Amino acid sequence: MIQGNRDGFGSRLGVIAAAAGSAVGLGNIWRFPYVTGENGGGAFLLVYVLFILVIGVPVMLSELALGRRSQRNALGAFKKLAPGTWWHIIGMMGIAAAFFILAFYTTVSGWTLEYLFLSIGNSFEGQSKEELNVTFEEFRNNGYLPLLWQLMFMLFTALIVYKGIKNGIEKYTKLLMPALLLIIIVLGIRAVTLPGSGAGLTFLFQPDFSKINADVVLQALGQAFFSLSIGMGALITYGSYIKSNEDLGKTAFSVTLTDTLVAVLAGVAIFPAVFAFGIEPQSGPSLVFITLPMIFQEMTGGYFFALIFFVLLVIAALTSTISVLEVVVAYVSEELNMSRRKATILSAGSISVLGILCTLSQGPMPEIHIGNRNLFDILEFASANIMLPLGGLLIVLFAGWYMKREDLYDEISNKETLKIHLIWAYYFIIRFLAPVAIALVFLNGLGFFGMFGEGDFS
Ligand code: TRP
Repeated sequence: MIQGNRDGFGSRLGVIAAAAGSAVGLGNIWRFPYVTGENGGGAFLLVYVLFILVIGVPVMLSELALGRRSQRNALGAFKKLAPGTWWHIIGMMGIAAAFFILAFYTTVSGWTLEYLFLSIGNSFEGQSKEELNVTFEEFRNNGYLPLLWQLMFMLFTALIVYKGIKNGIEKYTKLLMPALLLIIIVLGIRAVTLPGSGAGLTFLFQPDFSKINADVVLQALGQAFFSLSIGMGALITYGSYIKSNEDLGKTAFSVTLTDTLVAVLAGVAIFPAVFAFGIEPQSGPSLVFITLPMIFQEMTGGYFFALIFFVLLVIAALTSTISVLEVVVAYVSEELNMSRRKATILSAGSISVLGILCTLSQGPMPEIHIGNRNLFDILEFASANIMLPLGGLLIVLFAGWYMKREDLYDEISNKETLKIHLIWAYYFIIRFLAPVAIALVFLNGLGFFGMFGEGDFS
C-alpha cells in the first residue's frame, strides 16, 4: 500500500481512540436515552442491539476496508475503486449528510458548553425538575447565547481538524475516552441506588413487544447507524488513514463494543433517575439536560461529578464533530485541490450557516419549520433515519456486489496475512442480509407494507 506523504494514524491505540471517539458522542449520551424513551424502552433496545450486531459491524468493516483500499476520502474512494460509474453518489450523499449532522450536532454541542459553565457556577444546586426545565427552555430561547456556544464549538472542531490526523485528531482522542467510560460507570452506580430506580431499569431492559411498530424499528436502525458513525463515509475517511498492518475486523469489533457499552451505561445512568424523579421518558432532546443535573444534586460530591461529566461530554462531542468535519475537509482538500487550511475554513464556515439556522429553529425562531418539524428535527430525522441507512445500504451493495471478492478479502485479511474466521458470514451479510433488512425496515418505516402498523413520518 502506498502511503507516501499522506497523513495517517501513528498507532493502533490511536486508530481505536479516533474511531471510538467518532462513534462515542452525543449519540450515546444525549440521543440514545431520549430516542429510547420516546420509543418504548426495552423493546427498542433489543431491536437496536440486533441492528448493531447484524448490520452495524459489517457496514463498519466495509467502510474501513473501502477507505484503506482506496487511500481516498469518502467520495474519492468510489471514484478510485469504480471509475466511470455512478457509485460516487454515495460519497456525495455522505458529504450532504455530514452538513446536516454537523449543523444540528453543533447546536447540541453548544448546549453542553452552556451546561459545563452552569456546572462551574454550581447553578443547578437546589433546583427542582420544573426549575431545571425552565433553565433549559430559557437558555434555548435566548437569542444569542446558544449561537455563541455553537460557533465556539465549531471553532474548536476546526482547529483540531486543521492540525491533521496524527498531531490533531489522534493526539486529542487517545487520552480522553477511558476517562469518559469511568465517569459514566460512577453515574450509573449512583442512579441505580436512588430510591425508586427499579422502574427505570425495568423500562430499559424489559421488552414490551407491543411497543414495536414500523416507526420504532426505523428509529432503532437510524440510531444504530448514527451511533456507530456509519453510512456516510466517516469511516471510509478514517480507514484511509489506517496502516496496512492493522486488523480492520478487530477494529470494527472493538469500536462497536465500546460504543454499545457507553450507550447502555448512559441508559443505566439516566432511566433510573428519570423514574425516581418522575421525569417523562418521552421528554425528547431536553431529557438528559434535566435528568443529569437532578442526579448530581442527589450525589455527595455532585458539584465535582457534574463538572467532570460535562467536561467529558464536551470532549465526547468534540471527538465526534471532528470526524464529521474531517469527511468534508478531506473531500474538499483532495478532490477540489485546496490547502487543508482553506478547506477547513470553507467547510466549517458553510456548515455553520446551516448550523445557525438550526439552533434558531430550536429556540427563538420556531418559524423555521416544515409541517410540524422544525429545521433541527428535520435535519436530525433526514440524516439519521434516511441518509445514513440509505448510505449504508449502498455501501454494502458496493462492497458485496461491485468489488471483487478477492480484493475485498485481500484488504480485510491484510494480503492474507490474517486469518479471518467469519468471512463467509460477513460476505453473506453484506450481499444479502444487510441490504434486504435495511430495505425492508426502510420501506416499512415509510409505510409501504403496513407491517406492525403505520410508520409515523409526520
Ligand atoms: N456517532 C457519533 C455520536 O454518536 C456522531 C457521529 C460522528 C456520526 N461521526 C458520524 C454519525 C458520522 C454519523 C456519521 O455522537
